[in-house]
Amino acid sequence: MCGIFGYVGKKQNAAEVILSGLKLLEYRGYDSWGITVRQKRNVKNEIGKFIVEKNVGKIGGVDLSSSIYRVDSTIGIGHTRWATHGGVTVKNAHPHLDCKNEIAMIHNGIIENYAKIKEDLIKKGHEFISETDTEIVPHLIEEFLKKEGFASAVRDAFNLLKGLNAIVVASSLSKQIIACKTGSPLVIGKSDNGFFIASDATGIIKHTRELMFLKDREMVILGDDVQLLTLPEGKKKKLRFEKIDWKIEDVDKGKFDHFMLKEIYEQPKVVRNIAENYTGQIKELKNLIDNAKGTFLIGAGTAFHACLAGSYFFSKIAHTHINTTVASEFNYLEDFLNSKSLIIALSQSGETIDVIEPLNHAKEKGSKIIAITNALGSTIYRMADYKLLLGAGPEKAVASTKAYIAKVALLLMLSYAVSGRVNRAKKLLLDASKEIDSLLDKKGISKIKKIASVINSSEHLYTIGRGTSFSTALEAALKIKEVSYLHTEGLAGGELKHGPIALISKGTPCIVFTPQDETFDAIISNATEIKSRGGLIIGVGPKKSPVFDYWVNIKDVSEAQIIPHVVFAQILAYYLAVQRGYDPDKPRNLAKSVTVK
Ligand code: AGP
Ligand code: GLU
Repeated sequence: MCGIFGYVGKKQNAAEVILSGLKLLEYRGYDSWGITVRQKRNVKNEIGKFIVEKNVGKIGGVDLSSSIYRVDSTIGIGHTRWATHGGVTVKNAHPHLDCKNEIAMIHNGIIENYAKIKEDLIKKGHEFISETDTEIVPHLIEEFLKKEGFASAVRDAFNLLKGLNAIVVASSLSKQIIACKTGSPLVIGKSDNGFFIASDATGIIKHTRELMFLKDREMVILGDDVQLLTLPEGKKKKLRFEKIDWKIEDVDKGKFDHFMLKEIYEQPKVVRNIAENYTGQIKELKNLIDNAKGTFLIGAGTAFHACLAGSYFFSKIAHTHINTTVASEFNYLEDFLNSKSLIIALSQSGETIDVIEPLNHAKEKGSKIIAITNALGSTIYRMADYKLLLGAGPEKAVASTKAYIAKVALLLMLSYAVSGRVNRAKKLLLDASKEIDSLLDKKGISKIKKIASVINSSEHLYTIGRGTSFSTALEAALKIKEVSYLHTEGLAGGELKHGPIALISKGTPCIVFTPQDETFDAIISNATEIKSRGGLIIGVGPKKSPVFDYWVNIKDVSEAQIIPHVVFAQILAYYLAVQRGYDPDKPRNLAKSVTVK
């Protein structure tokens, strides 16, 4: 939900190091940003004074001649904000400081009891300049510093905070950076030039791939060395650095204008990787499903759409009943869970609070948890009894594409594995990756760009599908609306007549997903009902129909059909956004990982 970056080490240009780290993390939340560094010596020859720069908006072209980038400093912290408490203003941007400008801190999360703490601090004479919950923390530390050292003051202050939070604190009196977390991700990087701390590995891997993922209720002290401690006690813990295999090009746009397009083009490779390298891991998951009494697929947003596709796959291919529901609703649906239940949680970031919460309740009931995620070391990854990494590589665009395709491909393989036919899944996935390739060639792209130009001035757009294509209709609608802001509603084809068809008038565009399966005739009838009311029909599938005004021909690859179908929608969403003048990588009001409720 926000980007956190800190550095302490030998480099003298801490502000520039932090700025470049924040730019790599900006996809996580970007309504404002700020940096502070601890000056070795300022113009008045004072040691350790903070210099702060804060801005509203995205990190655009920064004027490196401004003072913060000219001072010698080896310690600093920076933050890109996704506002929860207090508007998008410079004053509310992080870092926040105490009364004496000796403590600077940045924060990810929501401090649920901040109002009462703020009231008490005001009574003690503390003055606040922001409307945020965050700003109470440096003043709380200032209070504890009256009777103890920096590290214990940070720990005691953090232990008073309620909610899921991560804080990173610097002091003008100390050459250390201290971080604490009870939620929201933090990862430490170790290099010869010093230590880095960030919300995720993306910000750090250009410096080092030796990382340690902080767990909840842990505190870390970075300076000349690194100490890992428990919270709330402050007991020493063993360090656990590991080398991750991400490469620097994984976190760069390369030849593409946007991360979203780059990640769309990576999808054939992602699907092939799953088809060729996951059979072994899938078999272990099969056993867990076979032994469970009641299995649930849960996820949020795009991840939920993959869960929905999975529930149809299991029924159709493995004749197995697997429930699914939106993760945030599962909180209200899980009273019957027990130690025999199995929860399969899908989450690209592994940090989605709407998934973490019901998983915590499920763990209390003794249920088994499988995490299918793209983020090694993430909260959901660490909570699970069994972990499966999507292997899709870092996904930077807010709109999830390759991670979605990876989830659908994995669930297709899993349902075939449960039915003892995993090799058929491999063949279908390899065929599907070829269909994605043809959508991505010059001819395929120009056809989709043309369709985008025909509908990009529409006010509303509808997407319909039946069976597994119902999940495609929902995912297509989400992709299009979240990056192009064109209001799009995804519907089960059979639901049209129960109300939504009242919205169809002359020229209303509708995308109809028409795979060669048992849904074909019925979905064509639905398309005809729309057409007879003046709708404009864009048919997606292997067989042309007279009802189509536009036809996107995608060869039949059986149940894997929904993979190239949704790639069509991803490409369409991308070009709709670009044609409508928006940045597809950073859609308004959104963040890549929703770590606050
Ligand atoms: C996807 O395009 C959206 N940005 C959003 O719905 C996302 O899928 C959702 O927030 C879940 O994220 P996760 O997979 O990281 O849990
Ligand atoms: N709640 C804090 C604020 O509103 C932190 C938000 C974030 O995680 O970016 O500033």
